[in-house]
Amino acid sequence: MTNIAVLGAGKMGEALLSGLLKAGRAPAELMFTERFPTRAEELAKTYGIEHVEVAAAVQRADVLVVAVKPQDIEPLLDEIAPKIPGGKLVVSLCAGLPTKLYERRLPEGTAVVRVMPNTPMLVGEAMSAISGGAHAEAHHLDLVEELLSSVGKVARVPEGQQDAVTALSGSGPAYFYFLVEAMIDAGILLGIPRDKAADLIVQSAVGAAAMLREGGGHPVMLREAVTSPAGTTISGLRELEKHGVRAALIDAIEAARDRSVELGKAHEIDED
Ligand SMILES: NC(=O)c1ccc[n+]([C@@H]2O[C@H](COP(=O)([O-])OP(=O)(O)OC[C@H]3O[C@@H](n4cnc5c(N)ncnc54)[C@H](OP(=O)(O)O)[C@@H]3O)[C@@H](O)[C@H]2O)c1
Repeated sequence: MTNIAVLGAGKMGEALLSGLLKAGRAPAELMFTERFPTRAEELAKTYGIEHVEVAAAVQRADVLVVAVKPQDIEPLLDEIAPKIPGGKLVVSLCAGLPTKLYERRLPEGTAVVRVMPNTPMLVGEAMSAISGGAHAEAHHLDLVEELLSSVGKVARVPEGQQDAVTALSGSGPAYFYFLVEAMIDAGILLGIPRDKAADLIVQSAVGAAAMLREGGGHPVMLREAVTSPAGTTISGLRELEKHGVRAALIDAIEAARDRSVELGKAHEIDED
């Protein structure tokens, strides 16, 4: 039995606990910490999982999943650093926080795995990228992969690629929402009521995603399959190319990567 404690059961923490239960983990293996008593009571009642104090979590759990907001990490580390026994696995869901930050504050040899998840974790469809710190071994990464597979897909990346991952799959859902929003506006321009346009576009997005994931097709081949000679799609595609949409997306993702690097610098200063 592996005891898992989620430190900070907000949106992501709750989604993970719920996914782990659905994947068959026993409630007795799980626990969580939470500052707000009403929220703690509500979660304990909904999921039948024990709410514990941080001190108890660090003693009892084998795996500590840190799911507080990045700005709340310092007080949490101040609280756990003096109490945490050696040999624990720390899994950080905090965007932008390097494994080194934990390694410098926690007992020598603590295994740390950094995760960049995304919000579709809330519906069990996360894309999580994981990277091991200096003391994370293959069995730690295997365990984290197994845990996160209960709420979506998992990829392993070197920690140096986490800023790029943040821009691609961390921010990615926002770019898809932006496209969907624009396409619904186009429907309205063409005289389709908003709710009908939303149905048409959202289901098209779901269908296209299923074709990409389950149909095993390459995006170029899938697009070519709906682009017939002198047809409607090619007329639309020409406009997208004319407006530089491809280049705009590449620039957007590069800008998001650069911002992630910039935000990460604040933690480098904290570390020194
Ligand atoms: N949401 C996203 O899009 C997304 C994507 C990728 C990664 N992440 C990462 O996931 C993490 C969690 O995000 P979220 O959206 O789930 O945030 P959230 O809903 O604000 O959850 C954080 C929870 O931690 C609690 N907390 C803070 N400090 C604590 C402490 N010392 N002890 C116990 N509980 C504490 C907070 O309580 P209070 O409410 O009392 O403050 C809150 O319930 C963040 O680090 C974020 O970077 C989020």
